[in-house]
Amino acid sequence: MTDIFEAIQRTAKRIKIAIDTKDIGYSQQENSSGETQLQLDIKCDMIIEEEFSHVASIHTIASEEKEHEMPMHKAGKYYIAYDPLDGSSLIDVNLSVGSIFGIYENAFGAKNMVAACYVVFGPRVEMVFAHHKTKLHLLQDGEFEFVKEIRLKEKGNLNAPGGTQQNWEPYHKELVDSFFSEGYRLRYSGGMVPDLHQLLLKGGGLFSYPGTADKPEGKLRKLFEVFPFAFIYKIAGGEATNGHVDLMTLSHKGIHETSACFFGSKYEIARVKEVYAKNR
Ligand code: AHG
Repeated sequence: MTDIFEAIQRTAKRIKIAIDTKDIGYSQQENSSGETQLQLDIKCDMIIEEEFSHVASIHTIASEEKEHEMPMHKAGKYYIAYDPLDGSSLIDVNLSVGSIFGIYENAFGAKNMVAACYVVFGPRVEMVFAHHKTKLHLLQDGEFEFVKEIRLKEKGNLNAPGGTQQNWEPYHKELVDSFFSEGYRLRYSGGMVPDLHQLLLKGGGLFSYPGTADKPEGKLRKLFEVFPFAFIYKIAGGEATNGHVDLMTLSHKGIHETSACFFGSKYEIARVKEVYAKNR
């Protein structure tokens, strides 16, 4: 696992340079979800692919920017699914973005996840790696330094509601509003990495991306986004659900399948499950 941890650190340093220096324009390519890819997405995907190709313990990779899995080393045991630059459209408006990594053993799938990691590219570059604990690292003078272990409180006070409100189910809107009525504050940038990072570092709250009329299975992808953050939140003492079951119990069909998802402290996730149970 150390070799993977170090490879991710190398990718983060190179991606930071790419973000700072790359000419950003829209490419003509579309990814498998039909979104227009930014050149920077492609560049970041290439950086990660190249760094992982030097790590013998990696058997296969899957990227949000690649249609299919890519085999690497036959003798390796780790399968890594990653989103090289999540929220890349936010680069244009100079908001934070991130890379997300799900590390699976022997095959892709929530039950095989053994570690997860994300890197936030904001005013500072920070990396959170969850294995047995969820640990925060800061890039300082060219190296990542351990800062602290992250633990969520039982209840937070931030609310990050994703998706287009017009397409929310009425009970989902009631749920979101009920947190605001309780005094929760809105914190939503449109990048799941900085939004979930903020909740983790400020003790908790709720991040939701529900199934909606236009996207019944949500928007966020299980292997690259949903499972890694579910793993990270659970190791940090929080919870993660699709409204009904723990996200880490879900199976997946294909590498790009999406799921409704809710991440938060124990209190908020219990409320989500209560409301969703009544509206099955
Ligand atoms: P993209 O990679 O296409 O920029 O999407 C970002 C993701 C995720 O980071 C964020 O939480 C979510 O999309 C935001 O979606 P909405 O704008 O629909 O809330």
